[in-house]
Parts: sequence; C-alpha cells; structure tokens
Amino acid sequence: MHKAGANLGITYLPDEKGKMEKKVGELVEPLNPSLFLPCNVQDDEQVQSTFGVIGDKWGRVDILIHCLAFAQKQDLSGNFSQTSRAGFQTALEVSTYSLAQLAGAAKPLMTEGGSIVTLSYLGSIRAIPNYNVMGVAKAGLEASVRYLAVEMGTQNIRVNAISAGPIRTLASSAVGGILDMIHHVEEVAPLHRTVTQLEVGNAAAFLCSDLSSGITGQVLYVDAGYEIMGM
Ligand SMILES: NC(=O)c1ccc[n+]([C@@H]2O[C@H](COP(=O)([O-])OP(=O)(O)OC[C@H]3O[C@@H](n4cnc5c(N)ncnc54)[C@H](O)[C@@H]3O)[C@@H](O)[C@H]2O)c1
Repeated sequence: MHKAGANLGITYLPDEKGKMEKKVGELVEPLNPSLFLPCNVQDDEQVQSTFGVIGDKWGRVDILIHCLAFAQKQDLSGNFSQTSRAGFQTALEVSTYSLAQLAGAAKPLMTEGGSIVTLSYLGSIRAIPNYNVMGVAKAGLEASVRYLAVEMGTQNIRVNAISAGPIRTLASSAVGGILDMIHHVEEVAPLHRTVTQLEVGNAAAFLCSDLSSGITGQVLYVDAGYEIMGM
C-alpha cells in the first residue's frame, strides 16, 4: 500500500504498559503513517473516537484493511465441543463482528467509493486440526463480506477477503501445530511453499486499486494454490 502511494493510518491494540504501541510504532515507522491510533474493537467508544479523529484529519477514507483476530489459546486446540460460551463469544466478537462494526464506521467517510479488505483462512470452509472456533469465526467473516458487499455496492464500496496460507505470526502461534501446517503446505501446495506477508500485502494492494474495480464480495486465495488440492 505504501509503495503504491497510499497515505496510511495504522491502529494498534492498546495495553496498560504501552508495549504494543511501542512495538507497532517501531514496526510501521518506515511507512510514515499520518495517523497512529489505539483501537480496541471491543471498546465501542474507542472505535468511535478513532473514526472521529480519522474524519477530522482526513475527511475522507478510500480503504479499510481489517487485519485482526483473537481467540483464547485453550480454544485453539483439542476438542471443538469443549469451546466455552465465553470463548466462543470473544472469538466471534473480535474476529467476526468487528468487520461489520468497522465497515459501518468507515462507510460515511467513503464518500467517493472505497475498498474494504479482510483477512481470512481456509479453516472457514474446511476442517483444519485445532483451528476450531476460529474456523466458525472465519466462516462468519466470509459471510459478512458478502452481506457487506451487497449493502455497500450502492455506494461503490467493494468488500473482499484474502484467504492467506499459513504464516508464522503472533496470532498464528496460538493455533496448535502451526509449524506442522506450514510444513504440510510446503509439501502439498502447487508452489511447494507457503506465502509471505509481502505477497498477501500485494494482493491487498490489488484489491484496493482500480485494477480490481469489478471484484466484490469475493474470497481471494493467496495460499500458493493449496486450496485447490484434494489430496
Ligand atoms: N498468520 C496466518 O497464518 C494467517 C493466515 C490466514 C489469515 N490470517 C489472518 O490475518 C489476520 C492478522 O493476523 P496475523 O496472523 O498477521 O497475526 P498478528 O498477531 O500480527 O495480528 C493479529 C492482530 O489482531 C489484533 N487484535 C487482537 N484483538 C484485538 C482487539 N480486541 N482490537 C483490535 N485489534 C485486536 C492484534 O493486536 C494483532 O495486531 C487475522 O485476521 C488472521 O486470522 C492469518
């Protein structure tokens, strides 16, 4: 996005000691974001104030990247039937509801059309060992993409998901056996490797550019081809 000339605003999940602010701040410094704001999607007031600042400073938004998810570690291994009510609610609130929540907050600012992209995973349509409640959350996320695409199409706002292959990150380390998943993809996927963060970012830049102006409501697989395999 930065390479393509986007003026970036970055949000982070605040914590009491300010660790995330520091870490994310250092990480995104080379991208020179013109906004850097706290935004916990479980806090309605904070979401409102984040979009208030965006509205005041920019007046208009063209792109929203929804790149966040959370489930309790104990719900990302073992038996799915043991998922607690609270664990289920948290996973779907943070990972699924937040897309509609943030899209709704961005919509009034997308006065000249726009593009919304979220990040999903194959566990939405296939049973992936240990992915459990997050698979249900991603199924809901991909359904949300379709409903939002219909709602927002009248305003020329496109809504799509990227279903990325497994990459080692803070969030994915919580999924039991993530390294085995990566090794399996390296063996089986048509490209015999998994994907990089840059490849996912490049696909997002495409979905947010005019090159993809006819595409909405879709799930684009950026997974070295793994999704097509039957065996
Ligand atoms: N890593 C993978 O293998 C993989 C594959 C497919 C899809 N994804 C998806 O990509 C997205 C980004 O994940 P990642 O793997 O890059 O890991 P990550 O740990 O870098 O990102 C997860 C982000 O979610 C944020 N977050 C958690 N709770 C939040 C809350 N309440 N409010 C606001 N933000 C919150 C965290 O701060 C973190 O920045 C997620 O939706 C994930 O499911 C990841």
